[in-house]
Amino acid sequence: MSRSAHPAGPRHADVLPEGHYSAPADDLNVLDPKVWAQTVTRTEDGSVSVGGIDVSTLAEQFGTPAYFVDETDFRARARAWRTAFGHDADVFYAGKAFLSRAVVRWLHEEGLNLDVCSGGELATALSAGMPADRIAFHGNNKSVAEITRAVEAGVGRIVLDSFQEIVRVAHIAQSLGRRQRVQIRVTVGVEAHTHEFIATAHEDQKFGIALADGQAAEAVRRALALDGLEVIGIHSHIGSQIFDMAGFEVAARRVVSLLAAIRDEHGIELPEIDLGGGLGIAYTSDDDPREPHEIAKALGEIVTRECEAAKLRTPRISVEPGRAIVGPTAFTLYEVGTIKPLEGLRTYVSVDGGMSDNIRTALYDAEYSVALVSRTSDAEPMLVRVVGKHCESGDIVVKDAFLPSDLAPGDLIAVPATGAYCRSMASNYNHALRPPVVAVRDGEARVIVRRETEEDLLRLDVG
Ligand code: LLP
Repeated sequence: MSRSAHPAGPRHADVLPEGHYSAPADDLNVLDPKVWAQTVTRTEDGSVSVGGIDVSTLAEQFGTPAYFVDETDFRARARAWRTAFGHDADVFYAGKAFLSRAVVRWLHEEGLNLDVCSGGELATALSAGMPADRIAFHGNNKSVAEITRAVEAGVGRIVLDSFQEIVRVAHIAQSLGRRQRVQIRVTVGVEAHTHEFIATAHEDQKFGIALADGQAAEAVRRALALDGLEVIGIHSHIGSQIFDMAGFEVAARRVVSLLAAIRDEHGIELPEIDLGGGLGIAYTSDDDPREPHEIAKALGEIVTRECEAAKLRTPRISVEPGRAIVGPTAFTLYEVGTIKPLEGLRTYVSVDGGMSDNIRTALYDAEYSVALVSRTSDAEPMLVRVVGKHCESGDIVVKDAFLPSDLAPGDLIAVPATGAYCRSMASNYNHALRPPVVAVRDGEARVIVRRETEEDLLRLDVG
């Protein structure tokens, strides 16, 4: 989302329409490691492999479209976050980005905790053996059944999002004879520089309780008065796909000032703060994301400094990265079906998936990269729009990109950085069958979420 309009190279200047795209790379066969998973590489014969397996072999075995996740890369990124934050902090992977039982096991093995935001995510986490005390339960309208399940399971924290929920969770915990550990989610009034639908800390939206008008302090007051709750901290999540650390710093400062106000009013120092997720990743070569160690350092310093100034003990920090862990680790593999050159405009390349496996382009105007992966080509670059097979013209996977002009039906193309919010937001629009997720590691590939079948669709249709 950070790209600006760019003049294309001289080879194309005379034929390119207006648009937001960079000039084509000098060599379209080169895969930028910024946007591709760690083990993705071009092999001697020109095709691309992941985890040591050629994409053509993967396509034959698992079909297309399909998501391939580089397990080595996922584990490395999870570990990098864990290491960066060290023993005085906790990393909760945000399951909404992508969750499956295999992923839960990887996280458990790599020492991460898990943020879930629905009964379904909680069930997945518990069924794969994530210890309940390492789970945080989120949501702005958790049902009584969901809260009851979470309290019974013994989740490590429930993040309270409204005045009603404070009472609801306290009541449920008490009736089960429990004292539930909770954080209170506040909106710190930061305008995160990202798409409106994924910014969450300004006041005019549905999440959290506002700091500015004293509502958050009132929420803390009410929660502290209820026996069923143990208030352990304050939570802030400012948005998603953010590159600028300034918003996180303002959020940290405001959360610490609330801790100081709580100390002054109630004589207690809450032991934890959670600064949410939201760190951006590279979808194209123009994006420059921060590394986990830079983020850990920046957040640690600001919280320590603010706490010293307010004469508070430094609380335990937690963060909730989703996209930054899983996003870059996967790509979607498609087969090219039809190719339509539109004179003076661009070439439409239709693939066998579309908005049902990646809604982000249609929903947020998200930008993606794409590459021909079943072979190399030295043909001239052509400006393409990669579109799906759904019945609407907004069914766009990659809005503006370059592919070689000898592209042909049957070629395999891949869209990198689709690990986050693609399978998890996939739909059955037009009764599409949602693609499988295949984990690849050290020369082995295994399905971790299988492809849907027509039987799956018809099983729900009981009319
Ligand atoms: N914590 C909370 C409380 C959240 O609401 C979210 C994301 C995260 C953590 C993780 O954020 P991440 O690190 O993944 O940016 N569907 C949108 C993103 C929605 C994010 C919702 N909340 C997209 O495709 O861009």
